[in-house]
Amino acid sequence: MSGIDRKTFERFRDLIYEKSGIALGSKKEALLTARISKRMRALQIEDYKSYLDYVLNDATGNEVVQLLDAISTNVTSFFREADHFDFMTEILQKRVNEGQRKFRFWSAASSTGEEPYTIVMTFSEVIDPSLCDVRLLATDISTRVLEKAMRGEYDEEKVQTIPTALLHKYFDRIHTPSGTVYRVRQELKRLIAFRRLNLSVTPFPMRGPFDMVFCRNVMIYFDNDVRRKLLNEIYRLLKPGGYLMVGHAESLTGMMSEFKTVRPSIYVK
Ligand SMILES: C[S@@+](CC[C@H](N)C(=O)[O-])C[C@H]1O[C@@H](n2cnc3c(N)ncnc32)[C@H](O)[C@@H]1O
Repeated sequence: MSGIDRKTFERFRDLIYEKSGIALGSKKEALLTARISKRMRALQIEDYKSYLDYVLNDATGNEVVQLLDAISTNVTSFFREADHFDFMTEILQKRVNEGQRKFRFWSAASSTGEEPYTIVMTFSEVIDPSLCDVRLLATDISTRVLEKAMRGEYDEEKVQTIPTALLHKYFDRIHTPSGTVYRVRQELKRLIAFRRLNLSVTPFPMRGPFDMVFCRNVMIYFDNDVRRKLLNEIYRLLKPGGYLMVGHAESLTGMMSEFKTVRPSIYVK
């Protein structure tokens, strides 16, 4: 595959922004071509302009989904930014002591599932889910990561950040021909509804209201316009007194949102 010309790159960039809100920088040609070349090989398409035409002419919209799957960065891990889960434990204990028995959570960019499973493990350590009405909505734009999340199977390297006691309690260790995998138990899986949702297209269809929303490490890919609309939607869908967690590298400073800061990366309605 030869290089990508400027015009084709810019048309890809505009299309990706329009469909996902992901703002690729002007010097990201190498990133774009590295990410789409595997898909192009699978389709036996040799040049970038032909692939762009293929995406644009696909009336089913499926190829746009494939393109966004290839573009999005899905890096995640169990108990990533662990202080959020300590904070969650603290708040939940308080709410449970006050008698609250219905909880709604949302993992807004759930990637391959590590974040939503961490949320339900954290919850289950505070109160037995069978004693209350608890649900987690886990959404992502990428169908590929959603499928992986729904499967709920992780290799040994991925589960290393899970405390051993929780790993034994919530995962089954399975031996397969390609190695050992850890499979999330049904009791956790059944608390989660996985759905495809594009965070750049507002308003969102769900009703909420949520007790806590985790929208972590995804706003970094958006420009301020998309971020602002997204934050307004999250604000609308949270209960009064509900919390928003964003990634440690993210901040709502300058976003003119109505959230109040609890501590860096944690906000309250
Ligand atoms: C870096 S991962 C973050 C995963 C997790 N929240 C965490 O902090 O570990 C970013 C995720 O955002 C998703 N994403 C990117 N653009 C999106 C959009 N417009 N709507 C919904 N999800 C999006 C990607 O598919 C990817 O799974």
